[in-house]
Order: sequence, then C-alpha cells, then structure tokens
Amino acid sequence: AEADAGTGGATVGPTARRRSKLAVVGAGSVGATMAYAALMRGAARHVALYDINAAKVEAEALDIGHGIQFMPMAQIEGSDDIAVCADADVVVVTAGAKQKPGQSRLDLAEATVGLVRSILPGLVEVAPDAVYVMVTNPVDIVTYAALKTSGLPPHQLFGSGTVLDSSRLRYLLAQHTGVAAQNIHAYIAGEHGDTEIPLWSSAMIGSVPLLDWPGMPGADGGVEGRLGAADRERIAHEVVNSAYRIIAGKGATNYAVGLAGSRIIEAVMNDERRVLPVSSLLTDYRGISDVCLSVPSVVGRHGVEGTLPVRLSGDELDGLQRSAEALREVAARFGL
Ligand code: LAC
Repeated sequence: AEADAGTGGATVGPTARRRSKLAVVGAGSVGATMAYAALMRGAARHVALYDINAAKVEAEALDIGHGIQFMPMAQIEGSDDIAVCADADVVVVTAGAKQKPGQSRLDLAEATVGLVRSILPGLVEVAPDAVYVMVTNPVDIVTYAALKTSGLPPHQLFGSGTVLDSSRLRYLLAQHTGVAAQNIHAYIAGEHGDTEIPLWSSAMIGSVPLLDWPGMPGADGGVEGRLGAADRERIAHEVVNSAYRIIAGKGATNYAVGLAGSRIIEAVMNDERRVLPVSSLLTDYRGISDVCLSVPSVVGRHGVEGTLPVRLSGDELDGLQRSAEALREVAARFGL
C-alpha cells in the first residue's frame, strides 16, 4: 500500500492499488467488442482474451493489439490456454450460444448452463480472487448456475443483468425528452429478458421525477416530450424488443453490451461504487429470495457491495415477482 504523506503509512482512499487485469472469456463479437471497449475506455491495463478457438482468439487479440498505440497505455493477449486468465482482477464470461432471430434468451439455457458449469471451476482455479461478471445469456440463469458451481460468495460473482436495458431506456427517454441520457436516472429491473420491467415511479429526469415530467417548451411555443402513459408503454416495449430487432437486422448485438460491460468493469477496477442494475443473488429483496435478477445495486472493488432499497409501486413489485417466478421456473429445469 502506498503510504500517503503525513498518514504515517496508512492507506488512504478506497484502494491502495488500482486493479488492472481483465480476462474476457469468449472471443465472439460480444467478448471481442467488450475487450476493445474496456481498452478504449482505459478500464483495464492488461486484457487477456480466452477462447477454445485458438485461431479466432489470437486473431481478435492481434487485430485489437494493432491499434494499441491509439488507446490509453495497455496490453492485450489472446490464447486458447485458460492460464492466460491467471490472477485476473475481473473475469467477464461471454462464451455461449447466440440468440437466433425470434429466439428468446431463456431458450438458450439448454446450451449455455452446461458450458458455464464446465468452464467455471478452471477459471476459479487460475483466478480465485477475481470478481466474476457473467454476460452469457440467459444471464440471470447463467449467473445463478455459475454461483452454485463456483462456490464463490454472491458479491463476487454477478451478471451484467439489465445494465444494457437501462442504457437502452435512457437512450429512448433522451430522444423523447431532449435531455441527455447521462442526466436521466431510470432503471430496468428484473430478468434481462422478456419479463423485465421499467421502474418508472423512481425514475428522474434531471432533478424532476419522470412521472411529473411536464415536457419542455418547443421551438414553436408548444410543449414537446411529454411522457404520458402511452409514451411510457411505447418506450418500454421498444426496450424489451431491442435485441430482437437488432438480431433480425445484423445477426447479433455487440456494441452496447460491450460498452455496458466496460462500465461494470470500470466500477470494479476503480472501486467506483456506481449504481448499476446488475443481476445478483437476492435475499429477501422486497420478499424475493434465492433468484438472480437485476435491481439497482452498488458495484465496487468487491463486486456487488449492496442493493438499493428502491421504492417500488404495487405494479412494479408485481412485475418483479413475475420476473422472479419466470426465472425460477427455468432454473428448476436445470436442477438449480
Ligand atoms: C442484448 C443481449 C446482450 O440484450 O442480451 O443485446
């Protein structure tokens, strides 16, 4: 620990050493994009890309490495040897099956739960102290299975959850209201999937509660960007169906999920204690227990530092419980 002048050798600040090694498991479009985003945002100084397909993982690492001059100082390597993940501070798992057009994320569980169960023990062996972030879909089920398989404490292994969905919600609200997405605090909660729900009652646009948003004076003297029930319904529907729309058009999503993953990685590496709706194992959250799903949580060096006691409307609580039920029903099929 670097002693701070005048503190007599005590460590000052949340962490003595900036954590910096990121291992990304899976060199598909999501994994490669996430590695690239993390490097571009300076989220990690050392990125290790791991995939069983040697040619692919080496090519992705090389293609990203060729641009290293244009990034914050860092290094990247790629290998089909799991040892490349050794001593990582954060391990992100993206390996898995891709959603086909029209296929739900929960439909992928058959293919991905077994895969995650098979790779987790080897990862934990080489990187026992890492914070693990599951991205592989269905991410809530995969997170639950990975927790059971790894034996890691619930704070140390969680899923990317609805961080991406919340980003989509903010993007659409920003377009509708004319306020920057960065100033819109609105979360999607529940399953990262068809049963997810928007938390309208606690959402804020700047310092204005979203449900009180009056719109803004338009150029023509009218009022633009009101958010009536129909607007909220349309936006929520567009968020839930975003992935289907993008998959139909380009075969997969990768940019926004790569950026969402990088945001999570930064929060852990820098101990930022950011509020992010990640998927973690809930214990009596508004009466919901023993299921992994997303609620706004504080993410820092230990992973999930805690969940926020968000005020939920009756409808929102019902929606969260429906989401939990849908996930439990799928988890039960895999003996989870
Ligand atoms: C999506 C994938 C990552 O929502 O589930 O784009």
